[in-house]
Amino acid sequence: MATNITWHPSLSRRERAEHRGQKGFTLWLTGLSASGKSTVATALEQHLLHLGVAAYRLDGDNVRFGLNRDLGFSEADRQENIRRIGEVAKLFADSATVAITSFISPFRADRQLARDLHAATAQNSDEEPLPFVEVYVDVPLEVAERRDPKGLYKKARAGEIKEFTGISSPYEAPDKPEIVIKTHESSVEECVAQIVKWLEEKALIP
Ligand code: PPS
Repeated sequence: MATNITWHPSLSRRERAEHRGQKGFTLWLTGLSASGKSTVATALEQHLLHLGVAAYRLDGDNVRFGLNRDLGFSEADRQENIRRIGEVAKLFADSATVAITSFISPFRADRQLARDLHAATAQNSDEEPLPFVEVYVDVPLEVAERRDPKGLYKKARAGEIKEFTGISSPYEAPDKPEIVIKTHESSVEECVAQIVKWLEEKALIP
């Protein structure tokens, strides 16, 4: 970290939330490639916008075109990918927006770091920490591989893609996710409804 830098206090989260009329938090979707993360995240973003709740989706492929274009799929690069996304999601949440992230985020320690970044927002303040809601998109590898919408599993099996999650790189399932959705058993609309119900019960959305 650079030296000679100073943290500048700004508006409180409470003030921002009151001004915007909504709470900021992060919904962190994790799961295998082709598990349905992006599809559910997109439908959820639309649903929240229709409810008048400002939301913004950060997506694996898309973010790798810009912010994280310098990163590949080694363990170290995935770790940095998730660290940066954790920081960006935290900023969106801090602005009283719902940050919806859809990244494979295969490593438990990296997801924990993103969670810790949110928890640390309560340090040195009398405010509540920014909520971090982990959503496990729990689909068996066989199902994801059968879907294979981008043909990546086929290439990975043929050895044309190295370090492919589920094939030649591990996926560590969450131990205690706040929400589990199964896109092979429920429709996209049912998955969105399940998440929205949970958020309503926790009073995170009106
Ligand atoms: S990670 O593990 O969280 O850093 O990955 P993420 O940023 O979500 O990017 C996943 C998308 O990149 C494509 N892709 C790969 N995925 C996994 N392993 C390897 N080696 C790989 N190479 C390219 C793939 O399209 C992923 O998109 P989704 O939407 O998950 O299928």
